[in-house]
Amino acid sequence: MNSFTRPNGREPLDSRQFLNEDCSEVSRQVFTSEELYQLEQRRIFDKSWLYVAHESQLKNPGDFVSAYMGEVPVIVAKGGDGKISVSVNSCPHRGLRVCRADQGNASRFICPYHTWSFKPTGELVGIPQARKMGPEVDKSKWGLKQAAKVESVFGLIFATFNPEMVSLDEYLGEQKFYLEAYFDRFPGGLEIAGPAHKWDLKCNWKLPVENMHGDVGHAAYLHGSFVAVDSPQNIEIEDYAVTAVARDGHAAVFRLMPEDSTFEQRGVHSPHSSPELQEYLTEVERTVAERLSPVQARIKGMAQGIYPNMSLLWGQNTLRVSHPRAPGLIEYWSWLLLPADAPDNLKEEIRAGYCMAFGPGGILEQEDSYAWRLQYEGSAIDYLNDRPYFYGLGVGEEKAHPELPGMVGKCYNEHYARRLYMRWREDMFGEENV
Ligand code: FES
Ligand SMILES: [Fe+2]
Repeated sequence: MNSFTRPNGREPLDSRQFLNEDCSEVSRQVFTSEELYQLEQRRIFDKSWLYVAHESQLKNPGDFVSAYMGEVPVIVAKGGDGKISVSVNSCPHRGLRVCRADQGNASRFICPYHTWSFKPTGELVGIPQARKMGPEVDKSKWGLKQAAKVESVFGLIFATFNPEMVSLDEYLGEQKFYLEAYFDRFPGGLEIAGPAHKWDLKCNWKLPVENMHGDVGHAAYLHGSFVAVDSPQNIEIEDYAVTAVARDGHAAVFRLMPEDSTFEQRGVHSPHSSPELQEYLTEVERTVAERLSPVQARIKGMAQGIYPNMSLLWGQNTLRVSHPRAPGLIEYWSWLLLPADAPDNLKEEIRAGYCMAFGPGGILEQEDSYAWRLQYEGSAIDYLNDRPYFYGLGVGEEKAHPELPGMVGKCYNEHYARRLYMRWREDMFGEENV
């Protein structure tokens, strides 16, 4: 195609400037344009369901965590009635953040400027200066603004600013099948351990998202020192991995183990795991049929992405969100997920494994982060504006599967990314412009 042109700010944007019809070619400007970035805030982050917290972080009334919905800071809190609220963290008086902690339990948040006080769920409780002034202020009108909708699934809490948004259930569609295969796998469920690792990365917010949606193609290459091409782990991945897109924008990649595979083979552990951890994970697989369907029971080691910016890596027990900050800057948040009923020593072993591989000091994270920074820098080379990226691996190879929802392709099929950019195009430009 090679007909992409740089938007000059004078002509209306047209999706054909950035993507060809089947999204097998994607302009570099999708990752660098300031104009597109600003549109993304309005057309994607102001409108989508966004992951904000996990229920395991909010066990008691007054428990809260700070989060972001796109660029907007929010407070997720549990009220006295057990209901979860999501309030914009900006004082209605002059705009300061009323909550400046990552997480905790509070009876009140007190704004630092003039000390207005708020319940964790956002209601305005006190205005110290008002006692000496009249007339009385109607406090019910001046609480923190609430997200338009808050819903949860498998303990994952999502919120949206969009009052017109479809239910979370409808938004996820058959992607729930893949979420369930991970979140309902462990007898006691999964829980978030501790606060998130948070760090800045010089890249576009979509780069980590796209990677976690299904980029098996880099695993044994970029991470060759960790997963060698000829290692048993990579051979198993090449033999059994599939990419599944149940709904455009969401994706999952995993090994679908053969029906005659053993429980030992299905357990997701590394060769370095202790015998005790291997036995614990094998036991989870032995009993998984009590909780999941036979085909879900054969799913192993999934990476998964929920549009627009949430990712999961089962093998490394991590949940992450790519928060946009600028076309070339993200704030990346990464949490450790643990099987809630695992013995403490195994939780500690899983934690150590996660820290070794992921989080800002992890080997794999370092390699991925370096790749995403270089990818951003390459995308910003003006001279290459007529050279879109190739996203065409496996075009047309994906098809409906007899047991798995959505379109399913072999492990190196890039349809997970093509469908991600189709969803992006639909949100950014509307279907009529596709
Ligand atoms: S800005 Fe918050 S109390 Fe004045
Ligand atoms: Fe990676």
